[in-house]
Amino acid sequence: MQVSFPDGFLWGAAGSAHQTEGNNVASDFWALENRPGGFLPERSGDACDGYHRWREDLDIVRGLGLGAYRFSIEWARVEPVEGAISLAALAHYRRLIEGCLERGLAPVVTLHHFTSPLWFQKAGGWTAPEAVERFRRYVRAVLPILDGVPCVCTINEPNMLAMMANMVKREKREENVAGAMPPPDQAMAEALMAAHRAAREELGGVKSGWTVANQNFQAVDGADAECEAWAWSREDQFLDVAKDDDFIGVQAYTRVLIGPDGALPVPDGARRTITDWEFYPEALGNAVRHTAARIPGVPILVTENGIATSDDDERVEYTTGALAGLHAAMADGIDVRGYMHWSLLDNYEWGTYRPTFGLVAVDRRTFARTVKPSARWYGEVARTGTLVR
Ligand code: BGC
Repeated sequence: MQVSFPDGFLWGAAGSAHQTEGNNVASDFWALENRPGGFLPERSGDACDGYHRWREDLDIVRGLGLGAYRFSIEWARVEPVEGAISLAALAHYRRLIEGCLERGLAPVVTLHHFTSPLWFQKAGGWTAPEAVERFRRYVRAVLPILDGVPCVCTINEPNMLAMMANMVKREKREENVAGAMPPPDQAMAEALMAAHRAAREELGGVKSGWTVANQNFQAVDGADAECEAWAWSREDQFLDVAKDDDFIGVQAYTRVLIGPDGALPVPDGARRTITDWEFYPEALGNAVRHTAARIPGVPILVTENGIATSDDDERVEYTTGALAGLHAAMADGIDVRGYMHWSLLDNYEWGTYRPTFGLVAVDRRTFARTVKPSARWYGEVARTGTLVR
């Protein structure tokens, strides 16, 4: 079977600053990783040295035949000390944006991908009374370098961020999927929504939205009401605030089953990935359908989807399934504008390098990039707009 995606569909690959750049020393996550006796197994350290090797990365994206690169700007580099904006950091990110444009790649720019400056966190983080104004000031500083950027993601996975707050409080790295985690800190969730609105105001005519971790919640044993309540706190309230946005970023990897007492473990015998998530490519199509039903009329951009596996054939298998589900949703009339595979590089997975999501391997000592066969397969899908099953 063969299906075709529409002309102009944006095919890309994604990464984020803290996970790829290395030495993000002024950020809160760096402090967490480097705390003596901390609970994270590995530090990000030099990461993929992407701060210096970004040209090579863009060349790979271009060479594969993709049309977009999603990356994030690091607030902790732009404003390492409160109120002190680094013009050199802004110039760096402007070069990155121009590097994309020169290569014919659409830069899909995220302003906040999980990490904040350490000073921001020490001053009370997202629930401090000044938090929204602090974020607004950062967005205002970044705005002048965004010329030519077709879409800006204000905050990556605010739902996950508000759930991770609990993880950090509990001093425990959750190995399971986000949607099975404790509910988000509601005060933080609301602060993030206010920050998103403030950012959109500052961005004016620049097209913007935010990206939500979609968990494809599924009720079992008649637990429909529980599932609805569970999904509301962890996902739907974050979709609802995006109802007037220019786009919504869908990020889906797996599903979460909800029984009468909450999230259920992955079913016995189910196939799992390195992150221990259920291998469930259908999650993407389902997440896109759920999002479109929740906020009809908002164009969808898949800003993340992928699999942590050491078996590159399995990456192709998973992505084929995910794209088939995506295509079927589009054939049913859902407005999806593009797909960004997570991730371009094998990068730092929030406490460990073990889960390899990348289309491209990175040598941990030399930083040499090796394009995997799955990347060439994906490039072919992108170039031809055709998926063969
Ligand atoms: C995040 C990424 C992360 C990926 C895989 C998303 O939650 O935005 O930073 O690497 O999922 O876990």
